[in-house]
Amino acid sequence: MSGHFSQQQLFYADNSCDIQEFLKPLASYPPYFQAQKSAIYNENCLEILGNISDNSVDMIFADPPYMLSNDGFSCKNGKRVSVNKGNWDKSKGFDDDMIFHNAWISECHRVLKPSGTIWISGTYHSIYQCGYLLQKNKFHILNDIAWFKPNAAPNLSCRFFTASHETIIWARKDKKAKHTFNYEEMKNGSFPDDKLKVPDKQMRSVWSITAPKNSEKKHGKHPTQKPLDLLKRIVLASTNENDIVIDPFCGSGTTGVACKILGNRLFIGMEIDENYCEVAKKRLI
Ligand SMILES: C[S@@+](CC[C@H](N)C(=O)[O-])C[C@H]1O[C@@H](n2cnc3c(N)ncnc32)[C@H](O)[C@@H]1O
Repeated sequence: MSGHFSQQQLFYADNSCDIQEFLKPLASYPPYFQAQKSAIYNENCLEILGNISDNSVDMIFADPPYMLSNDGFSCKNGKRVSVNKGNWDKSKGFDDDMIFHNAWISECHRVLKPSGTIWISGTYHSIYQCGYLLQKNKFHILNDIAWFKPNAAPNLSCRFFTASHETIIWARKDKKAKHTFNYEEMKNGSFPDDKLKVPDKQMRSVWSITAPKNSEKKHGKHPTQKPLDLLKRIVLASTNENDIVIDPFCGSGTTGVACKILGNRLFIGMEIDENYCEVAKKRLI
């Protein structure tokens, strides 16, 4: 469903946007949290996305359920632990998972501006389905980033390789429109903890970033929280000041925190679990 505002009504001459104006089509959904430049909705993202205006969003970061909570085991601090993250992460079967991913990816295509881009993170449990559906929904893939985790947990079975990366697909809505890529910031920025980034050389598509630091978890834990360094890099690479960024599966709000740190981005997050909304709120206040 389309929202009620045309792009022209939402944006000022300098292309900046007022969050109040942007949120007007969502008036019947009270936000869980709202500040000057951010809002979080404790709702199914399909509800909220369905009420956002066409062609109104600059960038989307989506970290959907990985569908990997299959009663298997992993290793944490040398101990055998369940891989299960919660019911939200359980697969409903290949076909139903496809239907779910297609529903939110097609809405993301509708709400993005022609120049807008989307990032989707995942492992092999979900990323190939999402990559296929991005293309089916007429997105054009720009990169697939390998996020290498230098401190990944060892493999307990010793029957296959130790999983130590996630894939993040970056795609644009319209092949003909000019998307944002802050090339210089990526090439010359400071990334001291990434052992693979050579200063003054182009940013490559393999990023070495460790798991979230303890300081990033002081407001509560999320089982699949993304590192702030990862989201800061993504937001810095693909947005400008006054851009509108949304995250349909915002969890502990890492994307919003990155927007806040970089400054002058408007952030709208959606999260179905109230406990995670509370963590995100505390991180964003
Ligand atoms: C992989 S986690 C995201 C973690 C997040 N990137 C972070 O850094 O904390 C996916 C989140 O999506 C939420 N979720 C699952 N289905 C949803 C839906 N239909 N709408 C909104 N949120 C949903 C889950 O509760 C979970 O917190």
